[in-house]
Amino acid sequence: MDLRGRVAVVTGGGVRVGRAIALGLAVAGADVFVHYNRSAEPAAQTAEDVEKLGVQASTGSADLSDPAAARALIGLAMAALGAPSILVNSASGFPGDTLSDVTAEGFERTLRLTLAAPVFTTQAFATALPAEEHGAVVNITDVRTQRPYQKHFSYIVAKGGLDTFTRTAALQLAPRIRVNAVALGVILPPPTEDDSYAEQLAAQLPAQRVGGVEPVVDAVIHLLQNDFLTGEIIRVDGGGHLV
Ligand SMILES: NC(=O)c1ccc[n+]([C@@H]2O[C@H](COP(=O)([O-])OP(=O)(O)OC[C@H]3O[C@@H](n4cnc5c(N)ncnc54)[C@H](OP(=O)(O)O)[C@@H]3O)[C@@H](O)[C@H]2O)c1
Repeated sequence: MDLRGRVAVVTGGGVRVGRAIALGLAVAGADVFVHYNRSAEPAAQTAEDVEKLGVQASTGSADLSDPAAARALIGLAMAALGAPSILVNSASGFPGDTLSDVTAEGFERTLRLTLAAPVFTTQAFATALPAEEHGAVVNITDVRTQRPYQKHFSYIVAKGGLDTFTRTAALQLAPRIRVNAVALGVILPPPTEDDSYAEQLAAQLPAQRVGGVEPVVDAVIHLLQNDFLTGEIIRVDGGGHLV
């Protein structure tokens, strides 16, 4: 798939990993709709930086823990830039909980943002895609769905669901829409932690370093460009799944 001239939606595109993906899409020639929830200024800055790369950008806010807002997001992007043919579901929470202390309310909230939102943005995306067009979705998941975290119970269960959703949607939306995912390892420290947190984790990896956003962007662009990939989940984890 040639990304030039296409419209891409990136959820959580204002900051960190999402911002890097938005810029990577712009470098590849796509116009980018930068979704945000609270990060209005960073999202506006990302849009400005996207435009400096010679493509169009727009921003829009939605609280994706509300399924109706998740569905409506694609309409906002369409109104701003035209029908999207690329969707990157990057927005997520990262709450700390365990099976012992998780509440029904907290569990449901996490599932809504981290699993239900990608489902309903994808549903709206598929509905809005013009009949003659091909499209592609990339979900951002977590390599730890295979070896789950102890302290992020509801998050990792939701991401496990996102893995299954990726494969299910790939089947249901084929051949017109491809659906893939990247499963991230130690890419950036959580916003609440400093660099030493990620460096400690990275010391245990075969790659022995924190990934940073560049390999994530490379993997996302590869999944979008390669027309024969669907239902694939690429690990971007410096070999962390091996140890
Ligand atoms: N960083 C890593 O090393 C790592 C590792 C494994 C997986 N991942 C995955 O990679 C993706 C990006 O990670 P990150 O570290 O860049 O994320 P992050 O810094 O935690 O940012 C979270 C993003 O989600 C958005 N968001 C949060 N609550 C929202 C809500 N209620 N409605 C809509 N959007 C909401 C935020 O938007 P606003 O800022 O606008 O509120 C923000 O853009 C996530 O899916 C994460 O699970 C990251």
